[in-house]
Amino acid sequence: MTTEKLERPQGAAEDWTVPQDWASYTVQEHAMWDTLFERQAKMLPNRVVREFMEGLDVLRMTKLGIPDFDELSERLMKLTGWQVVAVPGLVPDRMFFEHLANRRFVAGRFIRTPEQIDYLQEPDLFHDVFGHVPLLANPIFADYMQAYGEGGLRADGLGAIDNLARLYWYTVEFGLIRQDDSLRLYGAGIVSSHGESLFALDDPSPNRLGFNIKRLMRTRYRIDDYQQSYFVINSFEDLLKQTIETDFAPLYRELQQESDLEVATILPEDRIFTKGTQAYAHAKKFA
Ligand SMILES: [Fe+2]
Repeated sequence: MTTEKLERPQGAAEDWTVPQDWASYTVQEHAMWDTLFERQAKMLPNRVVREFMEGLDVLRMTKLGIPDFDELSERLMKLTGWQVVAVPGLVPDRMFFEHLANRRFVAGRFIRTPEQIDYLQEPDLFHDVFGHVPLLANPIFADYMQAYGEGGLRADGLGAIDNLARLYWYTVEFGLIRQDDSLRLYGAGIVSSHGESLFALDDPSPNRLGFNIKRLMRTRYRIDDYQQSYFVINSFEDLLKQTIETDFAPLYRELQQESDLEVATILPEDRIFTKGTQAYAHAKKFA
């Protein structure tokens, strides 16, 4: 998502999509995908939420080479009614929300070069497809993504896109979840990054805080480094339920009266999760 004013690139359709043009990928580009895929697939099984690995499997993403979006869409369509469509780069917020609300996930079609293996400024196809698509095969998460898109269209009319964007950031991109008595990864920004997949669970420095929509929507985020705070959901069901049940219009009005929170802030009412365990304590116990 972006708040910049964007011009539709030449060759893009009215909804900003372009053909993926799968046949044009080079041997080197396919090899880049395979290298990234292998590195993450080896490391993730005990770190990532189970539904992610199941998604890789049912979508047959373990097949070598860059996935063909048409094939992915065909499998997704049968499972959850989603599609993956290619776009040339960033798309305007409203267009992004429209696609999500209609169960279309927009993905870039370029892949990073070997020099960019560990750092990239704009999300590439590995981030978009490996990071985001597996969970679209899960019916609950798929519904959450659609609900987010619908919420985006409403937020646009209420001037609250910045607040809502934080929900996407701290869940879809950088979310953690409790599963089998431990913390697991599910955010695409984490699972597509080798370094952050380790950092988010193992490093002692970031805060791992209980999920709370209003609190999260007050919290700024970092775009230039690993996150300093992660929010932990109890389950996808709970995430979807809380999102559907929240009345966002009055919440946005409340948020306008309150100041933003800096990334490292811990509030007395925050639940703090410690690494690798479901045990948590109220912050004030440590104050
Ligand atoms: Fe992303």
